[in-house]
Amino acid sequence: MINITIENDLGERQALEVPTDMGFNLMEVLKAYEYDIHATCGGMALCATCHIEIVEGMDKLPESNDTELSTLDTLPDAGYNSRLACQLRPSDDMDGLVIRLKALQEA
Ligand code: FES
Repeated sequence: MINITIENDLGERQALEVPTDMGFNLMEVLKAYEYDIHATCGGMALCATCHIEIVEGMDKLPESNDTELSTLDTLPDAGYNSRLACQLRPSDDMDGLVIRLKALQEA
């Protein structure tokens, strides 16, 4: 298990315990915690409803693949620290990550 923290617009933080050995991607973990992520593409890096911003720990993450990069390119509010949660598989390296859920805040 690792800890990943979700920060909301007000700067309030909620720590989640995230398994690294069950084969879930981060979008699936967030859905399991009942965050309202639509994930209409099913985790194919196409719908961007799992858009997150990395507040702390960008250096802990693997590089984006081409599909993720081109989808992020289409988002007006994407920044250098944007990622798609469905493309991140929780690993020990990601312990202590702090993220914001972008798509959720716009809803
Ligand atoms: S679930 Fe669709 S882009 Fe991540």
